[in-house]
Amino acid sequence: MGYKICVVGSGYVGLVTAACFASRGMRVTCVDIDKRRVEKIKRGESPIHEPGLEEILTKVTSEGLLKATDEYAEGMEGAKFSFICVGTPSKSDGSIDLSYVTSAAEAVGKSLHLASKNHLVVVKSTVVPGTTSRVVAPILEFSSGMKVGLDFSLTFNPEFLREGSAVEDTFHPDRIIIGEHDRGSGEKLLNLYKDFYGDPLPSYIVTDTVNAELIKYANNAFLATKISFINEIANICQRIPGADVEVIARGIGLDKRIGPLFLRAGLGYAGPCLPKDLSALVNHAQSLGYEPLILRAVQRTNENQPYQVVLLAKNLLKTLKDKKVALLGLAFKPDTDDVRGAISLRLIDMLLKEGAEIAVFDPKGLENAKKLLGNVVLYASSAAECIKGADCCIVVTEWDEFKRLRPEDFIRLMRTPVVIDGRRIYDPREFSGKLVYAAIGYCPP
Ligand SMILES: NC(=O)c1ccc[n+]([C@@H]2O[C@H](COP(=O)([O-])OP(=O)(O)OC[C@H]3O[C@@H](n4cnc5c(N)ncnc54)[C@H](O)[C@@H]3O)[C@@H](O)[C@H]2O)c1
Repeated sequence: MGYKICVVGSGYVGLVTAACFASRGMRVTCVDIDKRRVEKIKRGESPIHEPGLEEILTKVTSEGLLKATDEYAEGMEGAKFSFICVGTPSKSDGSIDLSYVTSAAEAVGKSLHLASKNHLVVVKSTVVPGTTSRVVAPILEFSSGMKVGLDFSLTFNPEFLREGSAVEDTFHPDRIIIGEHDRGSGEKLLNLYKDFYGDPLPSYIVTDTVNAELIKYANNAFLATKISFINEIANICQRIPGADVEVIARGIGLDKRIGPLFLRAGLGYAGPCLPKDLSALVNHAQSLGYEPLILRAVQRTNENQPYQVVLLAKNLLKTLKDKKVALLGLAFKPDTDDVRGAISLRLIDMLLKEGAEIAVFDPKGLENAKKLLGNVVLYASSAAECIKGADCCIVVTEWDEFKRLRPEDFIRLMRTPVVIDGRRIYDPREFSGKLVYAAIGYCPP
């Protein structure tokens, strides 16, 4: 296993992948254009919050198994594999922005002559169907002067890790999907995974690049559909006295054809992946002359969902003008510091328009949120400080420490104890009797 791997892009996907490979004795070099990120990784520090990552990084950097650089030549020198893990954000029209992928592919191509023979380039970034073969392959060939399938190989290998459990997901994936561009490239990647996972290998599918690319989008589109579906049911529940979406979700989740996962009603799906991947798929379908009606409805339901808690707050407080609203949670999900595409940002926008004064707290996401929000909100240094003197508290992210708050804490600290549970972390039976409690998908009898 003494071979070398170059991982391009040191974000949630790239850095976790690199650290996990290195933890199994592979020699990995991370290449990133962000010099500050590179310096941190060199010191064995993680530039992102991801459970278990920093411990691995400290170990593998001190053992010399993981290095970081902003020089492609250094990363590609002698490498048997290179993984492209750069971002693929949305453009303003919702279509995919491939500029990071194309510039990474060009830079990999320029250093390909330094790599080991039979080098395999692996695209891990999420890209729309056709990108690996029709965009990445020609760029690699042009910038390297080499022929794919002859001088080097190319595969697409989508990533399914979840932020907040990225390390665990990398070591124990549900499945591996490999899209091979040229014959035999899939086998090369499988061999790497055999070294990494040992026996038994997780379930895997080897297909072509187009189908592998589409599997990733279909996967995320289905997850988003499940969330918008249960949120729609939740919004109906909220208008039926005695109805509770949690009970409904438990009931339908026992149907094997439906399953219990991803049936948590709340403020909607968010984050750096589901919204932008759905937009990219919708946009791609439309560019092919097809209007994806279900996917459009999923998006619209999700766009409206944060407004449900604003409505609940307005109903309970009559007006939000000059009211102090405390938001518990900024990160798009617990156990991450990532606020990209988070519901909290949209909620803050809506509440500011209503004239509310907003205090926020998040255990890990404060620094990233400050960069995006500036001084339009008050930043609290604890949950208690955030809710102190508030007229209304909205639970936005289901961090464990928020789950530990009891009705008495809200009663003691808030000006008027009104709690709106956007993530269903409290038991309505415990909270309703003691303070004013409202929740997504719950209507008191
Ligand atoms: N974050 C997730 O949970 C997740 C899960 C599955 C798939 N994905 C997909 O994986 C890809 C990466 O996502 P991410 O969240 O890790 O992104 P990220 O934004 O966290 O990290 C991207 C990194 O790439 C670096 N970069 C950009 N251009 C570069 C270049 N030309 N050369 C070298 N480095 C460059 C950036 O500096 C940054 O460190 C995306 O396509 C995303 O959709 C993400």
